[in-house]
Amino acid sequence: MTYSAGITGIGRYLPEKILTNHDLEKMVDTSDAWITERTGIKTRHIAAPEQATSDLAYEASLKALADAGAKPEELDMIIVATETPDYKYPSTACLLQAKLGAKNAACFDLSAGCSGFVYALGIGSQSIASGLYKKILIVGAETLSRILDWTDRNTCVLFGDGAGAAVVERVEEGYGVLSLDIGADGTGGEHLIQPAGGSRNPATHETVDAHGHTVHMDGQDVFKFAARKMPSASKKVLQKAGMSIEDVDLLVPHQANLRIIDNAVNRLKIDRDKVWINIDKYGNTSAACVPICLSEAQEAGRLKKGDNVILVAFGAGLTWAGALLKWAK
Ligand code: UT7
Repeated sequence: MTYSAGITGIGRYLPEKILTNHDLEKMVDTSDAWITERTGIKTRHIAAPEQATSDLAYEASLKALADAGAKPEELDMIIVATETPDYKYPSTACLLQAKLGAKNAACFDLSAGCSGFVYALGIGSQSIASGLYKKILIVGAETLSRILDWTDRNTCVLFGDGAGAAVVERVEEGYGVLSLDIGADGTGGEHLIQPAGGSRNPATHETVDAHGHTVHMDGQDVFKFAARKMPSASKKVLQKAGMSIEDVDLLVPHQANLRIIDNAVNRLKIDRDKVWINIDKYGNTSAACVPICLSEAQEAGRLKKGDNVILVAFGAGLTWAGALLKWAK
């Protein structure tokens, strides 16, 4: 027996503090002009010192649950996609479960870089389609500000903190997730890596002195991967569902660089008005980008029942993930 599974509630949370490009000019050798031209980013949000990833996830989850009219006890599973968990263990999903009082939910974190939320949607929707579960919470949440090297202009200007959450459950037949294209190319792992703190390079004074616990990235290699994978994953999900780009009402791409988004728009030949872009406000919030966009799009009245929506992302791994949904609410 298979069931249609889709998103029935969505929410987002951005911490209050805003860091502008002009603020960054005072911290590293950069300029508002360079950041704006090369990335499209103007501002990003930064978590307060007492806030960790599960706190951001909690705020977004409350909104998603309210939007779906769901109670925490009804959740069968919680997946938190993150590269910045509160701790190595327990999982951020378990911490979130405790905060929500979602005592009936199985919980785990998912590590797929910026593709994490769409990976989680893939796993979550299939768990519902199979009949295993009925109601799932999927979250993309990050406090990247905690793992940035604030002396490295190549990376510190790019990222921000935030969270987005979605309730996934059975929906009317023919609605919800129609197709998925989820994959990875592990040979590119070193291009985007936090090299220290795991079993390869456990934390030592030396790893801390060498900034090994921060984001290390070969920007151009990741850029090339993204330029290929965002269009190809979008085309694959359309092909699997027997649709073409003209059928798409909204494209929600991962927000890493405006030039990567523009490249995808050109290659896909999609009307730019159909693409949700908020990178100027939030920068790259990794796994949180896609659900934050979805939440904004819903609030702006850009998601109507029956709309065909593509979610597409790429990230550390290297990973990619695309999903085509017929919006179900
Ligand atoms: O979610 C996945 C995460 N990551 C990504 O998606 C990143 C993908 N890559 C990118 O978005 C771009 O490659 C970057 C934005 C990271 C870099 O842009 P780029 O056009 O590839 O610049 P570049 O690395 O080729 O650097 C060009 C110049 C260099 O100076 P020189 O060597 O030409 O003198 C950099 O040192 O720009 C310099 N530069 C900066 N200058 C001012 C690099 N970062 C900055 C900065 N401010 N923040």
